[in-house]
Amino acid sequence: MDEIVSLCKRRGFIFPGSEVYGGLAGTWDFGPLGVMLKRNIENSFWQTFVESRTDMYGVDAAIIMNPKVWEASGHVATFADPLVEDLVNRKRYRLDHLLEEAGFSVQGLTFDAMCDIMKREGLKSPDGNALGEARMFNMMFSTHVGPVVDDTSVAYLRPETAQGIFTNYKNVVDTLYPDLPFGLAQIGKAFRNEISPRDFVFRSREFNQMEIEYFCDPNDWERLFEEWLAAYHKWLLGLGLDATKIHDLEVPAEDRAHYSKRTVDIEFDYPIGRKELMGIAYRTDFDLQNIQRVSGKNMEYTIKGTNKKLVPHVIEPSIGVERLMMAVMCSAYMREIEVGGDNSTAGSSNAPAGGAAKAGRVVLKLPEFLAPYRFCVSPLLKNKPELVAKAREVFAGLKKKYGNVAWDDNGNIGKRYAKQDEIGTPKCIVIDFDTLEDGTVTVRNRDDASQIRVAISEL
Ligand code: GAP
Repeated sequence: MDEIVSLCKRRGFIFPGSEVYGGLAGTWDFGPLGVMLKRNIENSFWQTFVESRTDMYGVDAAIIMNPKVWEASGHVATFADPLVEDLVNRKRYRLDHLLEEAGFSVQGLTFDAMCDIMKREGLKSPDGNALGEARMFNMMFSTHVGPVVDDTSVAYLRPETAQGIFTNYKNVVDTLYPDLPFGLAQIGKAFRNEISPRDFVFRSREFNQMEIEYFCDPNDWERLFEEWLAAYHKWLLGLGLDATKIHDLEVPAEDRAHYSKRTVDIEFDYPIGRKELMGIAYRTDFDLQNIQRVSGKNMEYTIKGTNKKLVPHVIEPSIGVERLMMAVMCSAYMREIEVGGDNSTAGSSNAPAGGAAKAGRVVLKLPEFLAPYRFCVSPLLKNKPELVAKAREVFAGLKKKYGNVAWDDNGNIGKRYAKQDEIGTPKCIVIDFDTLEDGTVTVRNRDDASQIRVAISEL
């Protein structure tokens, strides 16, 4: 994990938020390469689940919503984590995390049960100090809308993008009248005042979600749930995630969110352990019924060609962009290990015990469609104007066609290859003296470092 965090910073994927002022816990900024990888992931989501289907539509709702949304959804009352404080240094922790770290299973435990264990076992803070009384802490960030700062102007930054979809369900039905089942997708920011943000971008206070609310007849939910689960597995594998590291967890009733009748979490074996990558929940008609009750507006859908009306039920696949980006990078990250002259490619954690192993080439084996740059173009030598001019011409042609093409004339060619390997560029194109003679270039392949000659006209 440390190697990936360091690569992210060194090569401009992800920087700590507000770093120049000492940072702000739980916030991260995407650098130039991170933005490109993130967009490629989001584009893949949109292409797969919206553009290539006939039953899916997009929305992009406001982040700040009427506070009634969060009262109706149950977030004001229940969107909380157990908070406990070190009585000496005042550091704050999530009680469930402390219990897990102390070796207790918290699966299915109520807040009271967690407090009982804490007291019975005399649980201490990680600094060895006594802990105060635990309490539930609501994770929504609040703000005030307009110039008057009082109870009447309180609003929240959305803790999930989902409610922006539910509140637009009726608008979409009234304007497009899509056939049931149909789904609405949204990509956008979500905010949670996490008690202890940690593990790089895995648990942050501001992050991006890609969510789908799929509206259906309640009789169909079980079949559709399985279909969505299968569709996400297929997509995740297509992003290069290691199949052996993906696991389904059937979430027990006592651990499910208040709105869910069934949840399957798709977990991933990150270097920090097996953790939730995403979830698929059967939200029933919980949200639309709440909106109907609180707003007084009818949320029924009339089945086409009949008089049959129903409030649709919902299957919700939800995934965080950053958690997915971490899984993509962890799956793609390879560090070759040189053992006694042999070169073997292995995951970074697979270094042989003992012996003269030494770190070799670092390669980010991203699928081509996710890589920040598709190609890098270089002149073999920077100080030969004729090579630079030809390389610029090739670069301009590819840039016009593909957009995400890098130019690199720094250092020697070996260093350029090493840098492009690390950021996942699938192909490096080098213009040399033969190019001037016969119009061919060297195309060097990232994954096995093999090289071929190709005519410029065939690039
Ligand atoms: N609308 C349902 C919902 O928000 P969730 O399980 O709370 O469900 C969905 O969140 C996904 O959002 C998670 O599976 C995870 O990928 C991502 N996520 C949640 N909290 C996060 C955090 N603090 N930092 C980064 N990603 C987070």
